Amino acid sequence: MVNKIAELIAPHIEGLSAEDIISLIEIPPRPDMGDFAFPCFRLAKTMRKAPQLIANELASSIENTDFIDEIKTEGAYVNFYVNKEIYVKSIIDSALEDDYASSDEGKGQSICIDYSSPNVAKNFHVGHLRTTIIGNSLYKIYSKLGYTVHRINHLGDWGTQFGKLIVAYKAWGDEEKVKSDGVAELMRLYVKFHEEADKNPELNDEARAWFNKMEHGDEEALKIWQWFVDISLTEYKRTYNLLGMDFDYFTGESFYRDKTEKVVSALSSAGLLKDSEGAKIVDLEEYNMAPCLILKNDGSSIYATRDIAAIFYRKETFNFVKCLYVTGQEQKLHFAQVFKVIELLGNDWAKDQLVHIPYGLVSLEGAKLSTRSGNVIYAEDILLEAIDKIKEIIQDKNPDLDDKDNVAKVVGVGAVIFNDLYNQRIKDVSFKWEKLLNFNGETGPYVQYTYARCASILRKISDFNPSEKIDYSLLTDSATIDLLKVISRYPKAVKDAAEKYEPSVIARFAMDTAQAFNKFYDSVKINVEDADVRNARCMIVYITKNIIKDALGLLGIGCVEQM
Ligand code: ARG
Repeated sequence: MVNKIAELIAPHIEGLSAEDIISLIEIPPRPDMGDFAFPCFRLAKTMRKAPQLIANELASSIENTDFIDEIKTEGAYVNFYVNKEIYVKSIIDSALEDDYASSDEGKGQSICIDYSSPNVAKNFHVGHLRTTIIGNSLYKIYSKLGYTVHRINHLGDWGTQFGKLIVAYKAWGDEEKVKSDGVAELMRLYVKFHEEADKNPELNDEARAWFNKMEHGDEEALKIWQWFVDISLTEYKRTYNLLGMDFDYFTGESFYRDKTEKVVSALSSAGLLKDSEGAKIVDLEEYNMAPCLILKNDGSSIYATRDIAAIFYRKETFNFVKCLYVTGQEQKLHFAQVFKVIELLGNDWAKDQLVHIPYGLVSLEGAKLSTRSGNVIYAEDILLEAIDKIKEIIQDKNPDLDDKDNVAKVVGVGAVIFNDLYNQRIKDVSFKWEKLLNFNGETGPYVQYTYARCASILRKISDFNPSEKIDYSLLTDSATIDLLKVISRYPKAVKDAAEKYEPSVIARFAMDTAQAFNKFYDSVKINVEDADVRNARCMIVYITKNIIKDALGLLGIGCVEQM
C-alpha cells in the first residue's frame, strides 16, 4: 500500500525517487488523521515554496484511484484515507507470503559478526550474555535480509595470562579438581597466582617464560593450555545450548598467533611502526588517540595485534561487506585504534565496513542473583534461575500443562533475552525477576503468551483454513485495522533494525503486535456462529500468530503452543 501511495505522489515531485518517498511516508498517530501521511517539510528547500503550499498543490494534483477514499491536507502533511477493504486485503496478502519482511538486498554479500567471545579460564559472565544475545539477533536479522552471515566467536584464548595459569597449576593445581570444578577452579588458581606473585615477583618471570614457550610451540605448554581451552569451551557450550545459539567459527585469538608477524612487517614497511621504550607502537596522535601497541618490549604480540591480523584474515576469507564487533563500550578506544591502523595501511574500506557495536552495562542493583564461589555471577546460573522461576509459576497456574520442562525453558530463557533486547542496546539492562517474568508486563512471556493464545483459538476452530478466501469487508472495524497497521510495519522494522544494528526495533514491534492483538481480542468475538465472520477473524489470528513467531525468532526467542 505504501508503494502504491508513493507511486501516486512520485510524478508530482521532481528529484525524489519512489524509494525516497516511501521512506518519508509516515503512519499518523491517530486514525482521524488518515492512514498514511506524506510530510512536505523536506521539499520546501528544493522547491522554494512553503511546505503547506506544496502539500495543497500536491493534494489537488493527485488523481482519484479506487484504493484512496479521500486525500486531505493538514499543515505541511498530505493525509491519505485509504479504502478500508482494499487496505485490509493488501496487508493480509503480503503478511501471508512466506517471505514477508524478508528481502534479497544482501544477496551475494557476506557479513562477519564477532560476538560473545568469552575469555578462556574465566567465567561466562553477564556482559558476555549481552554480546551473545545481541550478536545472535543481528545474525538472524541480516540473514533475513539475504546476507550470508558468519558467526565468529573470537575467544580470548591467548596471552600472558595463560603463562600465569600454567605456573599456578603446576605449583598449586590438582588435575582432579580442575576436572570436577572446571572454570571455577581455573579462576581460583589465577587469583592464587596474583596473591603469591605479590609476595614473590619472580613468579611473573616464570609466567612470561611459559607464555614464551607457548608462543614458540612448546609441546608441554600447549598441551596444558589446550586442556584449559577445552574445559572452558565445554562450560560455555552449556550456556549456548541453553540459549539455543551457535557459531560458525570458534576461532579465538590463538588462531591468529601465526598471522601477527605479517601484520608487523606490513606496518614496518609502511613506515608506521615506531619504537617506544622497547615496545613497538603505531602513533595515532594525529587522530587524537593514544598509540596502538603492537609488540610489547619482550617482542610478544597483544590483543590489538591479533585483532588486526583477524581483520585481514576475514577480509581475505569471507570478503565481507561489513565486519561487526559486539562488545561493551569500554572497548571503544581499542576498536577505534585497530580500525584506524587498518585504514592507515591503505584500506579505505575500513571506514565504513568495520563497525563496533557497543552496549550498556548489566546493573544488578536490586536483583538477587545466585552466585557461585568467589561471588561471581555466571550467565548459566541466571538462565537456570529464570527457568526455575517460570516452572514455579506454571506449577501454580497451570499444573496440568504438557511438557512443562520445555515450556519453562523456552519461556524462562525467552524472558531473559527479551529483557536484554527490549531497550536500545546502549542502555543498561537490569535483572528484576518480578519485572522481567511478569506475564502482564512488557516482557517476553507476555508476547509468548499472546502467541499461545492465538494457537489456542485456532485449535478450537477446526474448520478454519488459511488458504480459503475470506471476505475482507468484514474486517474494517477499528481494532482490526489498528492491528493490521502494526503488522504492516514489519518489513520496515526489519530494515531499520539492520540499519541501526538495533534488535530493540524488532522487540518493540513484537510487543506492539501483541498489545494490538490483545485489544482486538477484547473487542471482537472470534468464535461466532456466522462462518464468514469467523473465518475472516481467524485469518487475523493466524497471521498474528505467524508474525509473532517470526519476530521473536529474529530475537532468538522461541514459542510454545500452550503455556
Ligand atoms: N574476549 C573479549 C572480552 O571478553 C572480547 C573480544 C571481542 N572481539 C574482538 N575481536 N576483540 O572482552
